[in-house]
Amino acid sequence: MLTNKQIVVGITGGIAAYKSIELIRLLKTAGAEVRVVLTPAAEAFVTPLTLQAISGNGVSTSLLDPQAELAMGHIELAKWADFVVIAPASADFLARLRLGMGNDLLSTLCLATSAPILLAPAMNQQMYKQQAVQENLQVLAERGVHLIGPNSGFQACGDVGKGRMSEPTEILAAVLQTLPKNRSLDQLSVTITAGPTQEAIDPVRYISNHSSGKMGFAIAEAFAEQGAKVTLIAGPVNLSSSSAIERIDVVSAQEMAQQAVKFAQQNDLFIGCAAVADYRVAEVAEQKIKKTDENNELTLRLIKNPDIIATVANLSENRPFVVGFAAETEKVEAYAKSKLQRKNLDVICANDVSSGQVFGKDHNALHLFWQNGEKKLPLADKQHLAQQLVAEIVALYQQKQGELNQSF
Ligand code: C5P
Repeated sequence: MLTNKQIVVGITGGIAAYKSIELIRLLKTAGAEVRVVLTPAAEAFVTPLTLQAISGNGVSTSLLDPQAELAMGHIELAKWADFVVIAPASADFLARLRLGMGNDLLSTLCLATSAPILLAPAMNQQMYKQQAVQENLQVLAERGVHLIGPNSGFQACGDVGKGRMSEPTEILAAVLQTLPKNRSLDQLSVTITAGPTQEAIDPVRYISNHSSGKMGFAIAEAFAEQGAKVTLIAGPVNLSSSSAIERIDVVSAQEMAQQAVKFAQQNDLFIGCAAVADYRVAEVAEQKIKKTDENNELTLRLIKNPDIIATVANLSENRPFVVGFAAETEKVEAYAKSKLQRKNLDVICANDVSSGQVFGKDHNALHLFWQNGEKKLPLADKQHLAQQLVAEIVALYQQKQGELNQSF
């Protein structure tokens, strides 16, 4: 979610500073590179050594430290930042920021950066209520500084009221919401199928598989984050999707096929990530099938479901660029390559499911094959993997578009 993002975390003097350690860990886990700046007062609450270990980078504490300036000067650090989050932001710091003071490294950095600034104020509830503090916050907000919290509740000083710093997870969500978005894919539209399908046996039973839908949903989010118009056709899964995504919930393969073909013709790309049931029950019982004393066996006759991706890839009109998945338990490369040809796909993403390490899990690795190339995307969590996959798919799509344009 924050891959390649460079974030300065500023910490000012307040007891909530201990929570900033967790915030840094969350930012790092989301993929950001983090550099920490401490005000002199913050050093009384958390140590540079802890923050250096957690952030993986040197910690800056002083404006006038020749050694630190040599490593990365304060102006360089201000330019380096894609985003500045200050947590906790003390009453004193709010006042200095409002006045435009530059009497320590963090306030100077705020003056020198063009990156968005997010403040997570934290202070005693009585201090927070003060007109001076409220005015400072209002002026800062009017100038475009972003604010999160504070929350109400028990305070370290024993008071109860508004002034507790927002929780690290809330601050992370605010960072994600406030970061300037990369909208480079806003001209692109994509249809994605995800999750399993359920094929009814009778009103209470069905045939299905272990697909969790996580990979398809992560791909949908990765496209949407960059501004693409996304239609996500989802089988029965336990996942939510962001409001930017048009989501169509289906149950059976036939329903999925109907929706997929409709949207595939309207969109530039089609990604078949769903684990579609290959067969469905020929005669679905209208009533619950009863167990009887006489019958020791029960036979279900199955008939083939439509191959959704092959149908889409063989559309004679408005055929999108088609990307398929191949979950294999053996001969991964050979089966994937033959599926690429047989189904007339542009790209196939193969994964080895023999170890049981894919279905429902949060990590995956993929091996991509196309007409005259291949690429391995190593084991990563499904969010990061989806971001890399989107970049590869878009590059291959653009390459094909370029070739098509040239041939006219
Ligand atoms: O043939 P197999 O099921 O292994 O192929 C996997 C690929 O084909 C996936 O991209 C899957 O979404 C797609 N598929 C489909 N409709 C089916 C079966 C598979 O779209 N009925």
